[in-house]
Amino acid sequence: RCRLVVLISGSGSNLQAFIDKAGDAEHPFEVCAVLSNRADAYGLERAAKAGISTAVVDHKAFADRDSFDRALMAKIDAFEPDLVILAGFMRILTGSFTRHYLGRLLNIHPSLLPKYTGLHTHQRALDAGDESSGCTVHFVTEELDGGPPIVQASVPILPGDDADAIAARVLIKEHIIYPMAAAWFSEGRLRLDGECAQLDDKALPATGQA
Ligand code: GAR
Repeated sequence: RCRLVVLISGSGSNLQAFIDKAGDAEHPFEVCAVLSNRADAYGLERAAKAGISTAVVDHKAFADRDSFDRALMAKIDAFEPDLVILAGFMRILTGSFTRHYLGRLLNIHPSLLPKYTGLHTHQRALDAGDESSGCTVHFVTEELDGGPPIVQASVPILPGDDADAIAARVLIKEHIIYPMAAAWFSEGRLRLDGECAQLDDKALPATGQA
């Protein structure tokens, strides 16, 4: 089974989707550990309930991003993961971190990338008058939210929606496509090849089709 380490900062509903699906016929992976930069992340409770090892690496205890990332890498590597999953992990990672895990580090971002990198994605989609919002799973590179996309899901923006309503609609999709992408990786079907993600040896489009 493919060994996953999952990094969180908050609620961990994506983590829960991984926990629920891990080890079934379609998801040949196991969650070996959950790491958080915040001691109060609810996802830590989800992990503990599932009997998964947890650790907190508090970014506030470090002088700079480099020393935080080095401590985080040491914690992660102790679990010898095949794949590292960013699941609502709200820290910007250094180049030495992203290079260390290149090709085995995935993120989910709550927008139809390349639209709306960074924060407040659904509010920005609303403000722009977009008809849809969504989420993107991508390989992580040094460029923030800029790595090769793997899979996207979109949802309609409906009359009367606020950002929270859109976020809730998108999360349901996140919980489907993120474990799916990790399953592809676990089955050896998905890899990073230069600037592109490759699925079953076919290059996926280099930018999302937002
Ligand atoms: C998710 O919507 C995820 O896409 C987003 O944070 C939320 C975490 O929810 N990630 C980012 O914004 C990364 N920049 P969760 O803790 O319930 O999985």
